[in-house]
Amino acid sequence: MRAVIITHPGDPSVLEVAERPIPRPGPNQVVIRAAAATVNPTDVLLRQRGDGVLSPPWIPGVEVAGTVAGVGEGADFQPGERVFAVVNARSPEGGAQAEFVLASAASVVRTPAGVSDVEAATIPMNGLTVLQALRRLGLPRGATLGVIGSAGAVGQYAVQLGVHAGLRVLADAKPGDEELVRGFGAHEVIARSDNPGAAFRAVVPGGVDGLIDAAVIDAAALAPIRDHGALATLRFWAGPAERGIRIEPVMVLDDMEQIESLRELADHLRAGRLTTRIADTYSIDRVGEAHRRLAAGGVRGRLVLVF
Ligand SMILES: NC(=O)c1ccc[n+]([C@@H]2O[C@H](COP(=O)([O-])OP(=O)(O)OC[C@H]3O[C@@H](n4cnc5c(N)ncnc54)[C@H](OP(=O)(O)O)[C@@H]3O)[C@@H](O)[C@H]2O)c1
Repeated sequence: MRAVIITHPGDPSVLEVAERPIPRPGPNQVVIRAAAATVNPTDVLLRQRGDGVLSPPWIPGVEVAGTVAGVGEGADFQPGERVFAVVNARSPEGGAQAEFVLASAASVVRTPAGVSDVEAATIPMNGLTVLQALRRLGLPRGATLGVIGSAGAVGQYAVQLGVHAGLRVLADAKPGDEELVRGFGAHEVIARSDNPGAAFRAVVPGGVDGLIDAAVIDAAALAPIRDHGALATLRFWAGPAERGIRIEPVMVLDDMEQIESLRELADHLRAGRLTTRIADTYSIDRVGEAHRRLAAGGVRGRLVLVF
């Protein structure tokens, strides 16, 4: 099979497409014939820094959608079923940017009818990330949730799932993104600012109860939060905090086999509570273009490799 591989860290020119053996499913595993796999910031990081533990080549990619091609003992799937899945690219089996992808059955869920493979592939990692963030923030219905980086992939799902959880969602947007972010269901759109504390507190003077920092601004995301509120961070930042704020570093790797959460995401997708945005599709031979575009910033919607 053909797969994207990285043999050493570097710029997008280190991305290659190479022949690799087709994986075989073990017990409770599924092999997916990939139709679509997303390109995410984590793939850019893997390409830039490599994996500190596993030896190369590395196969990037965390999200895949396609059809079941192989079923291991105990896995409750049939060949030919349409599915989407989340996989750990930092594992010996490698990631999702390959024609055939090995996944734990607990990381695979059926794709709702009417949802394309390209759309389905954009859901699982960032959806699981937001479900974990909301769980760890632990906000009661009616509480205020701030979202920074709302126009991005995590940000969009944070707004949509926050609204569904009964929270009052305040989401930032720069000019030109305001209608987009309002369309996700945000109750208040806050002008994106170098001073998010002032911007959010102009609307909620006491500060929001909890905040998801999808822009990875870390310490700068504390200012909009009320005393003793909570902050979900996405790249390991764990403080120091201030004013009794609880910091919750989110790690989607901890939730890769949360089948109930994946089913919940599939239900949200089926019901239209999670919507998908595709910025562009690329053949795997053009994966370097997708990396360059993502690394440049400003992408609205997802970049998806198609097979
Ligand atoms: N910990 C985990 O398990 C986990 C899981 C999933 C994702 N992540 C991380 O979460 C982050 C977001 O991922 P993503 O896929 O949502 O990325 P994305 O689609 O690129 O979204 C990031 C958004 O933040 C905006 N932004 C950048 N700087 C900002 C600032 N100073 N103030 C306000 N907004 C700003 C960007 O706008 P512009 O495009 O205009 O710059 C973009 O809309 C990434 O760093 C990713 O690696 C972590």
